[in-house]
Amino acid sequence: MAERIISDVLTKPDAALEMTLRPSLFSDFTGQPKVKERLEITVAAAKQRNEALDHILLSGPPGLGKTTLASILAKAMGASFKSTSGPTIEKAADLAGLLTNLEAGDVLFIDEIHRMQPAIEEYLYPAMEDFKLDIIIDQGPNARSVRLNLPRFTLVGATTRSGLLSAPLLTRFPVRERLDYYQAEQLEKIVLRSARLLNVEIEPSGAHEIARRSRGTPRITNNLLRRVRDFAQVRSDGNITKDIADKALAMLEIDENGLDEMDKRILEAVIVKFSGGPVGVSSLAVTVGEEPDTLEEVYEPYLIMEGYLKRTPQGRVATELSYKKLGLRPNPGNQPGLL
Ligand SMILES: Nc1ncnc2c1ncn2[C@@H]1O[C@H](COP(=O)(O)OP(=O)(O)OP(=O)(O)O)[C@@H](O)[C@H]1O
Ligand SMILES: [Mg+2]
Repeated sequence: MAERIISDVLTKPDAALEMTLRPSLFSDFTGQPKVKERLEITVAAAKQRNEALDHILLSGPPGLGKTTLASILAKAMGASFKSTSGPTIEKAADLAGLLTNLEAGDVLFIDEIHRMQPAIEEYLYPAMEDFKLDIIIDQGPNARSVRLNLPRFTLVGATTRSGLLSAPLLTRFPVRERLDYYQAEQLEKIVLRSARLLNVEIEPSGAHEIARRSRGTPRITNNLLRRVRDFAQVRSDGNITKDIADKALAMLEIDENGLDEMDKRILEAVIVKFSGGPVGVSSLAVTVGEEPDTLEEVYEPYLIMEGYLKRTPQGRVATELSYKKLGLRPNPGNQPGLL
């Protein structure tokens, strides 16, 4: 369904595609210049001292390159990369298994670290800080706590919601970096790089069109490129021109500003059903038939950044731009949050 493109792409990344297009070196990683510079310095310094990297937390909306950066970091350190995710660590023993199998300098990547169970999280504190792990062996009267020494590893955590991380966990990451949405020019470079890797013929104007309608998100850029490529192949000669990109994106119901059907449904709900807001995220989610988490992690950040929605303590409020987008006239008397 066209309206689910964005959430599908962001919540269920295509593994095969990501493998081929994912940059593996800092030099292939486009955009995020400040984050990149700081991380490159951290890597260079750790290498000079012959030490493991400090623990690093990467946060930001889905599809912006957190997993990519984590694997680039490991590769740049010449370290091995072990990957897991918060929700899949079900028992303390799972975590103990992961930690005790690490070697000095290894990068342990924990994706969605905000979704780790609090009881398990507590085992991480001494592991991160003192490289010790307290585990309980045996049960009942024989149960006893044993302290294991761990190698100096690096934990790289990724989260789409750094606000949900507990303070003790957050403060155990000496390096914290937040990724932001990309500029269209940076995404254009990503389109051209991916097109080269996929052997797709594309004109700069076609790349520009895809880039500027990708919601500032490289994962969306790559997926749109693939879908536009299909269109170009079936409806034309395979070459992606501006006109072909435009027609393909229109067919996918992605508008001039990169908004899709679900975005518009959200804006329409706030304006029409909730008189412009404020409306709480759960009511809004029910109205548009989407999970509150997806709404908050996938859709909202972009709508807020682009100025379509505002977040107030009372809830989400539509801005004048949303009314314009839907061709409606704002009614300021009714809209406490409106300009
Ligand atoms: N800076 C970049 N340059 C080129 N391609 C990139 C860049 N960042 C991300 N990508 C592409 O976008 C895809 C998605 O990136 P990645 O998986 O790292 O996102 P993420 O932030 O981990 O997302 P999620 O929160 O959903 O796990 C990658 O496979 C890669 O192809
Ligand atoms: Mg990821």
